Amino acid sequence: MKITLTEEHKLIQEAARNFAETELLPGIIERDDNQQFDKDKIKKLGELGFMGLMVDPKYGGAGMDTIAYVLAMEEISKIDASVSVTMSVNNSLVCWGLEAFGTEEQKQKYLVPLAKGEIIGAFCLSEPEAGSDATSQRTIAEDKGDHYLINGTKNWITNGKSASVYLVMGQTDVEKKHKGINAFIVESDSPGISLGPKENKLGIRSSETYSIMFADVKVPKENRIGKDGFGFKFAMKTLSGGRIGIAAQALGIASGAYELAVKYSKERKAFGTEIANHQAIQFKLADMATQIEAARLLCLKSAWLKDQNKDYDQASSMAKLFSSEVAMATTIEAVQIHGGYGFVKDFHVERLMRDAKITQIYEGTSEVQRIVISRSLLKD
Ligand code: CAA
Repeated sequence: MKITLTEEHKLIQEAARNFAETELLPGIIERDDNQQFDKDKIKKLGELGFMGLMVDPKYGGAGMDTIAYVLAMEEISKIDASVSVTMSVNNSLVCWGLEAFGTEEQKQKYLVPLAKGEIIGAFCLSEPEAGSDATSQRTIAEDKGDHYLINGTKNWITNGKSASVYLVMGQTDVEKKHKGINAFIVESDSPGISLGPKENKLGIRSSETYSIMFADVKVPKENRIGKDGFGFKFAMKTLSGGRIGIAAQALGIASGAYELAVKYSKERKAFGTEIANHQAIQFKLADMATQIEAARLLCLKSAWLKDQNKDYDQASSMAKLFSSEVAMATTIEAVQIHGGYGFVKDFHVERLMRDAKITQIYEGTSEVQRIVISRSLLKD
């Protein structure tokens, strides 16, 4: 593995950092309190090319590699993980899935506006009874000749309300189990679609999470992605790249909390000196920095493998598993270093601690990552 950050990588990193500091930091506590999803901020992110970062410029994207994506995700997530989850779902799950497996017509119609950030996408796999056990899809996509009729409920859908395009997995042939699952591009204003109430979450509170109900939703046949029965593989392949994005999100949450902890420990005095001069704090900072560096290397390695067209399933799960655990541990320590101030909102670390938890859950729990990793280790 040879990773050298180019000038372009550094520019993307700097642009993401500037955007996070100038556009996302102001008002972040209020947006979190009020669960306010700010579509304008996503639009601005799109104008800078961050919503279709890896998409070929001929389809409206920025044409960057996965390493650039990791760098940008880290910087945005240091400040606002609610925004970075929208960015990650749009880039990794929706745009990548369409670019890799969509037809030319699907790309022109849907990928181009998604990659430009003119519209937002959502990925609809999870169901009330199919989370980790993703093969147990209850959503039915009945083949009606020139169209499919979709019936079912999807859960925990990020961008559920604001997305114009949903990628929906549904079962077409129950007998065939996961080989009967298809993936569809569904326009969110299609008749028969309704939303449940907005989820009131522990963290990433200003991202939108909804259940979506599909009742006799008609989807034209040309909106199926790939061959009949490709839907489960589509979801798994797409999620494998998505896990790099969430790993980078977790890395950003951890490094954001670490940077705040360093700043605070140089300012706060106790027992006659800045707390950074106490070994109890120094050892915590040393452990946090070491773990973050290891997480960063795993994120970059999985991105590098993907960019080299090598198998990255195991690496992306390792990156997500490790980085999300580092995010949780690091944010807890950052709160501890801040003492009572860490427990109130003005110092930001309590929000990062709440945001960290979801990185161990979505796009496959830590347990799912361990399944993927161990299967890959034990295969012939
Ligand atoms: N690439 C290609 N094919 C894959 C694959 C991959 N990465 N992973 C699995 N497959 C294929 C297998 O080869 C197998 O195909 P065959 O039958 O042809 O051999 C098929 O898929 C079934 O695979 P498994 O037998 O491994 O399936 P399983 O039922 O044992 O499940 C699992 C494995 C890893 C637990 C999987 O169900 C999984 O990843 N679950 C978690 C789902 C998830 O991540 N959900 C996130 C929802 S999206 C989200 O959170 C977005 C958001 O809003 C933030």
